[in-house]
Amino acid sequence: MNVNNFRLKLGGKEFVPIMIGGMGVNISTSELALSAERLGGIGHISDAEVMYVCDQMFGTTYTAEKRKRYIDNVNNRDKAAVQFDLEQLAEAQRRFVSHTISKKTGNGGIFMNCMEKLTMNNSAGTLKVRLEAAMDAGIDGITLAAGLNLRTLDLMSEHERFRDVKIGIIISSVRALSIFLKRAIRLQRLPDYIVVEGPLAGGHLGFGPDDWQTQNLRDIFVETIDFLKKENLDIPIIPAGGIFTGTDATEYLQMGAGAVQVATRFTIAKEAGLPDNVKQQYINAREEDIEVNNASPTGYPMRMLKQSPTLQYCMRPNCEGLGYLLDNSGKCSYIDDYYEALESRSADGKITVKGHTCLCIGMSRYDCWTCGHTTSRLKETTNRLPDGSWQLPSAEDIFNDYLLSENHSISLPKA
Ligand SMILES: Cc1cc2nc3c(=O)[nH]c(=O)nc-3n(C[C@H](O)[C@H](O)[C@H](O)COP(=O)(O)O)c2cc1C
Repeated sequence: MNVNNFRLKLGGKEFVPIMIGGMGVNISTSELALSAERLGGIGHISDAEVMYVCDQMFGTTYTAEKRKRYIDNVNNRDKAAVQFDLEQLAEAQRRFVSHTISKKTGNGGIFMNCMEKLTMNNSAGTLKVRLEAAMDAGIDGITLAAGLNLRTLDLMSEHERFRDVKIGIIISSVRALSIFLKRAIRLQRLPDYIVVEGPLAGGHLGFGPDDWQTQNLRDIFVETIDFLKKENLDIPIIPAGGIFTGTDATEYLQMGAGAVQVATRFTIAKEAGLPDNVKQQYINAREEDIEVNNASPTGYPMRMLKQSPTLQYCMRPNCEGLGYLLDNSGKCSYIDDYYEALESRSADGKITVKGHTCLCIGMSRYDCWTCGHTTSRLKETTNRLPDGSWQLPSAEDIFNDYLLSENHSISLPKA
């Protein structure tokens, strides 16, 4: 028995039940998502910092133009005036999505991971534009992540694809799910799938800073199944977080999961966006190198390698160019921490920022090495090369290992 004995049914379509989770900023690249799509599964791209990502991919100048527009504000602690141009945001989103969609060759799907916690100094306005532009450009599905917002379905509801695009939500508790479903039932637009993300996942965790240790995916998954049964709802449930082998995945599918969402094993794929030297750091990581900390200005705990350069940042925020985490009044806790550090700088002029990090810069430069709990096991999944470095597997190697392996075995990529 392996993953290939199962299929995910979404609407009228069948998929291989493997979803590669969204990993911003551009870690789950178009190429990575397209590998899953080609093999019949579902790949996510992420729209985190999409204008910056377009600049890198297509040579556009959205970030530089925005910075130029607000250059006089650079030394101002108050960022309320720094707004995204909504037309440019829509243009960037359409460009990014249509670029990916136009390269589809398989029977799988390309979905968008949309982090609602990217409040962008105008949370409802920018989120609506991101969602609508993704649908305009033909995205197959949208997974609503981090910061699950009850208004989000309303923001999408005027779009002609509202009832045809696949919509999923990521939750980490039945409580969050039941609140969301109340709104969805009122709009007669239930989610097409529910990702249940446990505490071993990468990126931000949907738990409080202290309660993630006491939770486990299996329990939340079973509670979610029971809850949906009780409510008479038939929606595929997709567990995520710590599913490391094909056998882990098969066990969930046997328990009734519609598919699994996996990410950590793909961080080191050739197609993933992290620079190769960072991929080597991930593979070399030991369990004691991984921590869940409160450095993210979003207020959610985040798992990352302790060696992440972003944890040493003491640089001036670049909200004029980036500014993706500004709340609706132009605030971000990194700005406060930075200016407090400036005010209490030592006699030699050195500043040390305590508290939060600048995720906008950290993620855009691949300096925030966010990762899942199982990162320390990545060594088991590939070959050591004669020079001591590790072979980077292809996404197809990893996908097929999830699909076909049995008895917790992991097949290594061909040397
Ligand atoms: C490097 C990395 C970055 C991630 N970034 C995001 C993100 O931007 N948005 C999101 O919803 N989930 C993010 N995640 C979570 C994954 O999409 C996925 O649900 C989870 O990590 C699956 O567990 P696994 O990594 O143990 O396989 C990230 C995970 C990793 C490893």
